[in-house]
Amino acid sequence: MKYFIVTYGCQMNVHESEKIAGILEKLGYSPAERREDADIIVFNTCAIREGAEDRVLGNVGNLKKLKKKNKDLIIAVCGCMTQKERTATNLLNTFPFIDIVIGTFNLPKLGYYIEAVKKGRELESERSGKQLELFDEGEIDETLPYKRTSGDNAWVNIMQGCNNFCTYCIVPYVKGREKSRKEENILKEIKDIIAEGKYKKITLLGQNVNSYGKDLVPPVSFSKLLRDICLLDGDFTVSFMTSHPKDLTDDVIDAIAEEDKIEKFIHLPAQSGNNRILKLMNRSYTREKYLDIIKKIRQKIPNCRITSDFIVGFPTETEEEFNDTCSLVSEVKYDSIFAFKYSPREGTVASKMEGQVPEEIKSERVNKLLALEKKLQKENYI
Ligand code: 5AD
Ligand code: SF4
Repeated sequence: MKYFIVTYGCQMNVHESEKIAGILEKLGYSPAERREDADIIVFNTCAIREGAEDRVLGNVGNLKKLKKKNKDLIIAVCGCMTQKERTATNLLNTFPFIDIVIGTFNLPKLGYYIEAVKKGRELESERSGKQLELFDEGEIDETLPYKRTSGDNAWVNIMQGCNNFCTYCIVPYVKGREKSRKEENILKEIKDIIAEGKYKKITLLGQNVNSYGKDLVPPVSFSKLLRDICLLDGDFTVSFMTSHPKDLTDDVIDAIAEEDKIEKFIHLPAQSGNNRILKLMNRSYTREKYLDIIKKIRQKIPNCRITSDFIVGFPTETEEEFNDTCSLVSEVKYDSIFAFKYSPREGTVASKMEGQVPEEIKSERVNKLLALEKKLQKENYI
């Protein structure tokens, strides 16, 4: 019995796939080299931009042939796309050969559904039958095994969800509100990872790691978590992503500066360099505040690598406002950046805004920004 997992999207999804692999191996499956050899194929999907969804739809569609050849093949779809009402229903209508659609919060039940499909070969859908369960976020599962697949790096999830509601972003809708894991559970997981002796790097994951622990009773700050991890014995480094500029506090910058075990690296998405657009995005900081944080990082951690994400063509963005993003990129001199064309996501505030920017202009801007980044990179290395 073999499995094949297809993963889309961010590191959190890569890590989630390690959990899926853990569940499948516990059920007796082993990894297949190619999807043609698999008895079960799991798509771990991403909903952050339309392009990601289109890729999933294309690839799931291609499985029809495989399913025709192998009637026993089980096809499961999970991850962020399945949390969206319409998408989940569409998936099932368009691709009736999908056996399981399971929401992100219900992953622990994957084994149960696989058994149910095997028994009855009947269509099981977490979404169509039990919609309310979707947003019943419940406790973070601490019992499922991970099958770590990222070499000497071990991902460690420290929290789920996001409370920020940036107006372009689907994440708060598909991942629910912020929920932190208990510090003791995180420390235990890391101790176990170190004891295995295979891992040199620990990467803490969360949509907004800087607000870690605010929801715990009593609250725990992210800098305390970092410092406590550094107190663990062993030869390892720790890094984390993603940081939100509004929550990156001095105590975290100090911890990075002072603790040898913390990597001198911060991914600090700015999204735009223009204050009107930042406000429309609901990012809760200005260009000036962002630059102040960068200045502080550079002062306290002189060799810190800094990277960022940018969205171009947000509704109503003018050429001058886009130029502010370019000037911010030139000013900060990032180690690298990711640039995305704004992609309207159903249900978000920005998708309903007037003044959506035409696709050609978005493409033009993203190309300009990436060309600028390339030019700056060259200058950095000379
Ligand atoms: N359109 C384009 N890019 C987006 N991102 C998030 N939502 C959207 C969207 N609707 C980008 C942001 C974020 C990164 C993970 O994806 O830059 O930091
Ligand atoms: Fe999305 Fe903003 Fe939350 Fe990041 S902080 S996941 S961009 S809502």
